[in-house]
Amino acid sequence: MKTPPAEFYIDPLRLRTERERVFARSWQIVGHVGQLANPGDYFTTRLGNEPLLFVNDAGTIRGFFNVCRHRAGPIAYGCGKAQRLVCRYHGWTYDLSGQLLRTMEMEGAEEFDPTQIRLQTVQVHRFGPLLFAALDPATPAFDEMFPGVTERCGPLGLERMGFVATRDFAVKANWKVYVDNFLEGYHIPLVHPALNREIDYRQYVTELGQRHTLQHAPVREGSEHYKGKDGDGEAYYYWLFPNIMLNIYEGQLQSNVVIPIDADNTVVRFEWFAFEPLPDPQTNERWIELARFSEEVQAEDAQICEAVHFNLHSRAYRSGPYSPKRESGVRLFHELMLNS
Ligand code: FES
Ligand SMILES: [Fe+2]
Repeated sequence: MKTPPAEFYIDPLRLRTERERVFARSWQIVGHVGQLANPGDYFTTRLGNEPLLFVNDAGTIRGFFNVCRHRAGPIAYGCGKAQRLVCRYHGWTYDLSGQLLRTMEMEGAEEFDPTQIRLQTVQVHRFGPLLFAALDPATPAFDEMFPGVTERCGPLGLERMGFVATRDFAVKANWKVYVDNFLEGYHIPLVHPALNREIDYRQYVTELGQRHTLQHAPVREGSEHYKGKDGDGEAYYYWLFPNIMLNIYEGQLQSNVVIPIDADNTVVRFEWFAFEPLPDPQTNERWIELARFSEEVQAEDAQICEAVHFNLHSRAYRSGPYSPKRESGVRLFHELMLNS
């Protein structure tokens, strides 16, 4: 098997199919648990073109499409706290479990039984401080999709982490170019000279799951950024099919979500999480340095991805071979995409 042909990356029509066949059936990060800390808390967001709403219903986290069953009005804007969900268009009122409770002036309406009307749900799953959702009800449960990940991360205590900061990076490349790049450490010596001084490339390991990979490497003695009192001496890089990356080292978690905009443009959303007491990202010196370093690495990745994306349009390239030792994760990603 060789890498997919360049059209896999540059075909402008492909994203539409990917949204249906891949993204709608996947687990996506929609927010963090701290946004729904108390009963009644809610927030709205979007996944691709789908408007979503998440609520804390007396301790149970629920997810809905933010789309009224009447004439598609928005059930909520932004975020806040509520006991009922009142559609912003004509005031149909739902309880926090999504059941329609009350409507006005609907007497005599045809085919209308309020007891049978509920907001349409999305699946939700909590992983550490992260809130995941899956649009398609047929999506296998998170732990079935990514077996072993929850257990393996158990000792890391991720559920005790809280949100610190977020930042979006625009990259002029197809989202799959960015994912490919994440899935191999092969490029570290050339693209990331400073990172190469932090981790031991010779002991860099890629483990394959069915739909996830774990790359890890020992942090080197004398590392400036990764060595500290909070880490276990290892840097872990998880990838969850198709576009979620969780980087765990030095007692912190950094999630990267690779968001396709169109065939040639991607946004990579970084979110940082840490143990309580949460550092102030503006003033905590160690944190400022960690963030600066991850932005340096990100800039190096963005630059090489943009160059590769540009070159994929060249008549001189069609496809190439994989390194069995270094690119097994990239190959798994391609197999999953081509079978979706
Ligand atoms: S669209 Fe929601 S009440 Fe009319
Ligand atoms: Fe990289």
